[in-house]
Amino acid sequence: MIQFSSLDDRPLDQPSPSVLVPTMGALHEGHAALIRRGREIAGHEGNVTVSIFLNPLQFNSSSDLATYPRTLEADLLLCRSLGVDAVYTPSPEEFYAADHSISIIEKSLSRTLCGSTRPGHFEGVCTVVLKLLNTLRPSDAIFGKKDYQQLAIIKRLVRDLGVSVRIHGVETAREPDGLALSSRNLMLKPEHRKDASRIHRALLCARDIREAGEHRPEVYLKITRKHLVESAPSEMEIEYLEIIDRETLVPLAKVAGPALLATAVIYDEVRLIDNIEI
Ligand code: PAJ
Repeated sequence: MIQFSSLDDRPLDQPSPSVLVPTMGALHEGHAALIRRGREIAGHEGNVTVSIFLNPLQFNSSSDLATYPRTLEADLLLCRSLGVDAVYTPSPEEFYAADHSISIIEKSLSRTLCGSTRPGHFEGVCTVVLKLLNTLRPSDAIFGKKDYQQLAIIKRLVRDLGVSVRIHGVETAREPDGLALSSRNLMLKPEHRKDASRIHRALLCARDIREAGEHRPEVYLKITRKHLVESAPSEMEIEYLEIIDRETLVPLAKVAGPALLATAVIYDEVRLIDNIEI
């Protein structure tokens, strides 16, 4: 018999790890980094499952859902090459009963950043993730820090509802020019794709500002905003640019401890998000 007071020490139902990597498909190197981490955690004995499910509940507009890239055959090949044991690809009809009527609402962390401009988005994310965890019962699940707010909300969901799973966060994978890998990058016009490297460059400035000992959030925001907009194409707009606490996601009054600078930028309806820990 063992006695345990922390969930990290609990005996697992499964003898070896079973790892879930939830995705919406159109897989790229960022997803591959999550899958590789999953493979490491699972080891030889454990198994890795990737779910590919374009979750209608988390899209704010039907056109966004309709234009989201779908590349299932290439996704399956990538999963096979990375040593994935199983790929779960339910249809929306299989996944959600026609009269499903329960959803999960997070009431604090989802108020800021993407939550304030995409009503219902995180409700859709929480609902699908909880259902995936309940259905597939992994011991571990992997998420990317590119969607920092999503990762924070999922950790809160697991904590507050007592879901028996370990959540792991993986660093953002980037293109050589610094642009965070995203399935949406495929939807950018070539000239916008080229320009989008400015997002990471602008965020990187914040680290220099920090090294110079700056505490005022407005100084960080002014300088990074300038880099984001300077000679940018007219079709580009900033949806938000915020400097927040990494745990609570609340905008900071003073940059002292660990902070996050996060932005959402739109090029002609293609919405890109990125962030940097400072
Ligand atoms: P999707 O956008 O397909 O992303 C799946 C996972 O890959 C998420 O955890 C995301 O943070 C991670 N990811 C995406 N781009 C990344 C990058 N450049 N570097 C590191 N990780 C990256 O996020 C979702 O799907 C959905 O909301 C989902 C959690 C699957 C629920 O439907």
